[in-house]
Amino acid sequence: MKIISFVLLGFVVLAAGSVLAQAPADLAAPGTGIYEENCAPCHRSNGEGLAVKFPALHKNPLVLGDPQPALATVLNGRKGELGLMPAWKDKLDDGQIAAVVTYIRNAWTNKASGVTPAMVKEVRDK
Ligand code: HEC
Repeated sequence: MKIISFVLLGFVVLAAGSVLAQAPADLAAPGTGIYEENCAPCHRSNGEGLAVKFPALHKNPLVLGDPQPALATVLNGRKGELGLMPAWKDKLDDGQIAAVVTYIRNAWTNKASGVTPAMVKEVRDK
């Protein structure tokens, strides 16, 4: 009996360990659906965009740098050389924008700090 409980305990510890080990890599996970639904039609699921139409978000310095310019672009949209980036401030709430910007900062091979709803609110209220 003792051996069996040791084995069981071992499995529990291993299982908990693998859940914890996955946590950092899954920083992007909550925003996946929001991205696929709202952003992927233009920027594509692989984040590479479309030449001369939609900018790549993968390895994009604006996406990976200070979160403020990326948040301002997503909230307010932008009309630029490539065309029109729609504004999302009336379609997505602070939590959804935090999730999707955290997603683009950590999807593909991107790696940058996560964004909180409070940070979104700060840029929204400017
Ligand atoms: C209808 C197509 C379209 C959709 C949908 C769209 N975008 Fe964009 N996005 C653009 C275009 C076009 C630009 C470039 C605008 C310009 O020429 O400056 C852009 C620019 C950006 C930039 C700035 C990139 C840079 O290098 O300056 C970010 C960040 C971004 N989009 C994120 C998103 C996110 C996140 C979503 C979903 C919530 C989204 N976009 C949805 C078309 C789109």
